[in-house]
Amino acid sequence: TPAEYIRNFCIIAHIDHGKSTLADRMLQLTGIVDAREMRDQYLDRMDIERERGITIKSQAVRMPWTMEGQAYALNMIDTPGHVDFSYEVNRSLAACEGAILLVDATQGIEAQTLANLYMALENDLTIIPVLNKIDLPSAQPEKYAQEVASLLGVEPEECIAVSGKTGAGVPELLDRIVSEISSPEGDLDAPSRAMIFDSVYDIYRGVVTYVRVKDGRLNPRERVAMMSTGSSHELLEIGVIAPEPKPTAGLAAGEVGYLITGVKDVRQSRVGDTVTSASRPAPAPLEGYADPKPMVFSGIYPIDGSDYPALREALDKLRLNDAALQYEPENSVALGFGFRCGFLGLLHLDIIRERIEREFDISIIATAPSVVYRVITDGGEEVTVTNPSEFPDGKVAHISEPMAKATLLTPSEYVGTLMELCQQRRGNLQGMDYLSEERVELHYDLPLAEIVTDFFDQLKSRTKGYASLDYDLEGEQEADLVKVDLLLNHEPVDAFSAIVHREKAYSYGLEMTKKLRNLIPRQQFEIPVQAAIGTRVIARETIRAVRKDVLAKCYGGDVSRKRKLLEKQKEGKKRMKTIGRVDVPQEAFVAALTSE
Ligand code: GTP
Repeated sequence: TPAEYIRNFCIIAHIDHGKSTLADRMLQLTGIVDAREMRDQYLDRMDIERERGITIKSQAVRMPWTMEGQAYALNMIDTPGHVDFSYEVNRSLAACEGAILLVDATQGIEAQTLANLYMALENDLTIIPVLNKIDLPSAQPEKYAQEVASLLGVEPEECIAVSGKTGAGVPELLDRIVSEISSPEGDLDAPSRAMIFDSVYDIYRGVVTYVRVKDGRLNPRERVAMMSTGSSHELLEIGVIAPEPKPTAGLAAGEVGYLITGVKDVRQSRVGDTVTSASRPAPAPLEGYADPKPMVFSGIYPIDGSDYPALREALDKLRLNDAALQYEPENSVALGFGFRCGFLGLLHLDIIRERIEREFDISIIATAPSVVYRVITDGGEEVTVTNPSEFPDGKVAHISEPMAKATLLTPSEYVGTLMELCQQRRGNLQGMDYLSEERVELHYDLPLAEIVTDFFDQLKSRTKGYASLDYDLEGEQEADLVKVDLLLNHEPVDAFSAIVHREKAYSYGLEMTKKLRNLIPRQQFEIPVQAAIGTRVIARETIRAVRKDVLAKCYGGDVSRKRKLLEKQKEGKKRMKTIGRVDVPQEAFVAALTSE
C-alpha cells in the first residue's frame, strides 16, 4: 500500500474503559474477523492478560477500510496499559501518527489515560477524542465531552460517541481515522530504518518482532542488522498481521508489520532498537532507544526448597519473553536458595510472580520490594544497593534514592485524605488542577520506595477505588535512610532486613518484632526478638519459654501412639530453619512476609 493510503493509530484508554471491545468491533466491521470466529478480546492472547484484564504485550493489526471509494490500510497498534510498561507505550506511540483517546462515558478520564495522552502529545500525534459505552443508561457523554474538550482545547462537539459493545458510532470513527490522521512520512529511497515497538517470544517460531518501517524498505531473505548491538540476522519472514500473521513481499516506509529472524530471546530484538539493512546500513539509528532498567528488586524463593531447579527453569523461560526481567542466585538463612530479581515496577513483579505460580506450578515467596539506592561510604566509595544485605556497615556519607513524578486523579472530596497520604509518604506537592468541579489532578514528587510499599492499596482504600495513580521516574534525592535488622536470639534474620527512612525505622521495628513474636512458636527457652540499626536495638519483644512435652497427652501404655507423635514432630523439624538456636517453621517467615 502506498504510504498516502496508510493510517497508523493506537488507542489510549484506561483499564476497563473498553479498548479491547472497541478493537474487536473494528476487526469485525472491517471484515477481517467474521462474527463466527470472533471471540471476545481477540487481541489479548495471554490468559493472564484476559483474566486480569490488562494488556501486557502490544501487537499490530492491519485492517482494510474503504472511504469514498478509496481503499485504505488502517494499522491499529495496541499499547500496553500500565505504568510499569511506559517505555513500551512510548515506543508504540512513536510508531503511530494518531491516537484515539478512549474514555468511558460513565467514568471520565483517569490518571493513566492522562499520562499516556501527554506522551502522545509529546510524540505529536493527532488525537481523536472518543466517549465509549454510550449504550449504558448511566453514560454521561455530554458531561465528559466537556471535560475532555477542555483538556484538549477543542470543542465538545469534536468528541465522538460510540459503543464498542453495539458498534454504534464505530464506522464513523473509522472514517475519522482516515480523514483526520495524517499518512506516514518517510524516505522510500533512503537506507532502511525500522523501529521495533514490540517483540514477543513464540515457542514455534522464536522471537516475533513488531516494527514500524520509517525509511526505505525491508525485504524477505535480506540480512538485517540491529543497530544497538550491531548483530545481524537473515530475515526469514516479514509480513503483516491481519489478524493472523501473513507473509508479504516486504514492508516499505510507513508500513507496520512483523519480522522473524530466528533469534531465540527478546533481548536480541529489543523494543526501541532500529533494524536496518546489513548491506546498506543507515548512518544513524532512529531516536529514542533505551535499555530496560529494573527499578524494583525482590528476592524470590521456592517455598519447598526442592523446587529450586524448577524455579530457575521457570525464570529462564520467562526471560525469553521479557527483556526487562533480571535475576541472579541468592541465598538466605531464613528462606534457603532463591533468586534476587529485578523488575520494572510492582505490577511487573506481580505478573512474574503469578506466572511462576500458575504456569509453572511452583509456590514461591517474595521478600519486600526494594528500590535502587546509591550509597557513598565514609571512605568515599560508591555502592549501588538493590538488596538490604549490600547496605554498607558503619557510617555512610551520602544516600540517594530514586524519585517519581506522580499524577493522582481523584474526585474532589478525597483531596484531603490523599494529601495526607502523600505527606506521610514524604511527598512534595508540585501542583493541583481542577479538570472540572468534581475532579482534581494532583502532582507530587514522591520517593519510589514509598510508592512500592502498598501506596496503591492505600490510595484505593482511602478513595473507595475512585482515585487513580500514574508515575514517571525522574531523578533522585538525598535521603536519610538506615538499615533495620531483625534479630532472633541475637542473630539477624536476613530476609527481614529493610532499608527505611530514619523516621520510620522505629515503627518498622515495632511492627516486625510484634509480627514475628506472634508467628514463632514458643520454645524451651526465652527468645528475644529485636529490631536494630547497626548495634543499637530500637525495639524488642520476647517469646516466652514453654516446656513442650508432646508425650504428656498420652496417658501410659500406648507405645505406638507415642512413636507416631515423635515421628510427626521429627517430620515438622525438617521444615524448620534454625536461627540463633531457635527453630522456626518456614511458614512463620512466609506468613511474616505475606501478611501486610
Ligand atoms: P483492558 O484490556 O483491561 O485494558 O480493558 P479494556 O479497556 O480493553 O476493556 P474491555 O474491552 O475489556 O472492556 C471492559 C468492560 O467493559 C467489559 O466488561 C466490556 O464488556 C465492557 N464494555 C466495553 N465496551 C462497552 C460498551 O460500549 N458498552 C458496554 N455496555 N460495555 C462495554
